[in-house]
Amino acid sequence: MKKISLEYLKTLDNGDPLSHYRKEFSLPKNTIYFDGNSLGPLPKRTIENLKRAINEEWGKDLINSWNKAEWINLPQTLGNKIAPLLGANPGEVIVVDSTSINLFKVLTSALKLNKNRKKIVSEVVNFPSDLYILEGVNEMLNNQYERCLIENDNAIEQYIDSSTAVVMLSHINYKTGRISDMKKITDYAHNKGALVVWDLSHSVGVIPLDLHNIGVDFAVGCTYKHLNGGPGAPGFLYVKSDLIEKVSQPLTGWLGHIDPFAFDGKYIPANSISKYICGTPAILSYKAVESGLEIFKGISMELVRKKSIQLSEVFIDLIQQECGEYGFELFSPSNADQRGSQISFKHENAYPIMQSLISQGVIGDYREPNILRFGISPLYMRYQDIWKAIMCLKNIMQSNEWDSLNFKKRNYVT
Ligand SMILES: Cc1ncc(COP(=O)(O)O)c(C=O)c1O
Repeated sequence: MKKISLEYLKTLDNGDPLSHYRKEFSLPKNTIYFDGNSLGPLPKRTIENLKRAINEEWGKDLINSWNKAEWINLPQTLGNKIAPLLGANPGEVIVVDSTSINLFKVLTSALKLNKNRKKIVSEVVNFPSDLYILEGVNEMLNNQYERCLIENDNAIEQYIDSSTAVVMLSHINYKTGRISDMKKITDYAHNKGALVVWDLSHSVGVIPLDLHNIGVDFAVGCTYKHLNGGPGAPGFLYVKSDLIEKVSQPLTGWLGHIDPFAFDGKYIPANSISKYICGTPAILSYKAVESGLEIFKGISMELVRKKSIQLSEVFIDLIQQECGEYGFELFSPSNADQRGSQISFKHENAYPIMQSLISQGVIGDYREPNILRFGISPLYMRYQDIWKAIMCLKNIMQSNEWDSLNFKKRNYVT
């Protein structure tokens, strides 16, 4: 392997067709941010958009803004802005509630569509909230479903059969960054008469998606990660167009009604994706999502993916080159085609090493039991940032700086 130098990385930065996106973000000085897969950084245009929303739309126009600024349509308009990033059609996506709540809704919808089947297939390593929602939905439905939680999806075909109602998976695993083969699994599930629900939280904004062509039935995801929509921003959900009329969901609040302002006592669902709205949208959060999405207008997701892979390969090779003796074991797939936009390493001292890195402005995160997780964000990350981060890691390991009580005290959020 050819030795990687800082000069070489600077040439990659100079030739980077996405480099102009970095100025869209308000990035603190002396910080290299590897946590955009958990909370994306603040887009500069969000500051202006929120100021306008607070001072003008709320401050001056008050309640008129539901009509005048079209606040009331934000769940649908922002859904339509996310749609191209998902390979979805207009009217198939809505921004609403949280990812967990959306999963509750679409999983319940899917089970109702396939009501004579009693098995749900997922992975033990799926994001815990997804598994908890699955457990909660099953309990609500009197535990009538067999939860078939497999180790990983390598041999998932063995478990999908004529009794399977739903296959529910994450497209990119939160811990390993491993990509599941969405097309292959969706096709297989459909051949067996099962429906699919995909969690796209770690995929949207970093990898091209093609939900509609693949024929995905349902999907959910976050806007506060790679879409940079702000802390606790609302999630999104997708329903394939030809299912929308048939499906129902259990959180039948007034804004999912066909005519909310008729204030009728009887619930009649909207005959569109709007039936998935429950209550009043948190407008200020939507305004932040709106600005985050503007950055993606006209973007080439192929270029984003290409840069994500190149940054990740540099990261992996550079750790090998500079920190090879310190016991970092790659936990993400080594094959770039099977890896999302994050790199995870196992290390017995993962927690204090990560805390020590964070104290030096290199911000990644830690996942149990021994994982250092580095999110790769092609819109603002430079190749030379990878160099600086790995040199920082090398220093920390050489000097044993991580081996301090300060770095071993567990924070609640890791
Ligand atoms: C893959 C995945 N699914 C679901 C969630 C839960 O999202 P929320 O807390 O917004 O419901 C997360 C949160 O990080 C996640 O990473």
